[in-house]
Amino acid sequence: MVFVEWRDDYNINVATVDQQHRSLVELINKLHESLERGDDREEIGNVFRALVDYTIYHFAEEEKLMANSHMPDLDDHQARHRQFTARLSDLLVQWGMGEEIDTTDLLEYLKSWLVRHILVDDMAIGKHLARATSRSTTTSR
Ligand SMILES: [Fe+2]
Repeated sequence: MVFVEWRDDYNINVATVDQQHRSLVELINKLHESLERGDDREEIGNVFRALVDYTIYHFAEEEKLMANSHMPDLDDHQARHRQFTARLSDLLVQWGMGEEIDTTDLLEYLKSWLVRHILVDDMAIGKHLARATSRSTTTSR
């Protein structure tokens, strides 16, 4: 069974963001599989690093989109992104140094953080863009 199952209600109806969220879910699932299989530490570290790198890329893209569409609460949203990437980066460094980390906790954190973030914070982006689009079609008429 996959660790995080994609659900249609995770779509915020912004194609690029939804696609990136799906990729994030896939990467979390890959990390889960790698841990379940008992891959060696280096291999697990590579999957973990790919997840952290992609997360950083995705947040930057999302923040660009928010800035370009004059989304309110950008600072708060950005702060939440920073907090998440800081925690993941710390854990990745610990992993790389051979320290013990609680991988069950890590997976649960990844899953619950991402799902809640998509459903609450990112959903607001979808709503904001939908409103902006309907306003611009009204005024161009
Ligand atoms: Fe976000």
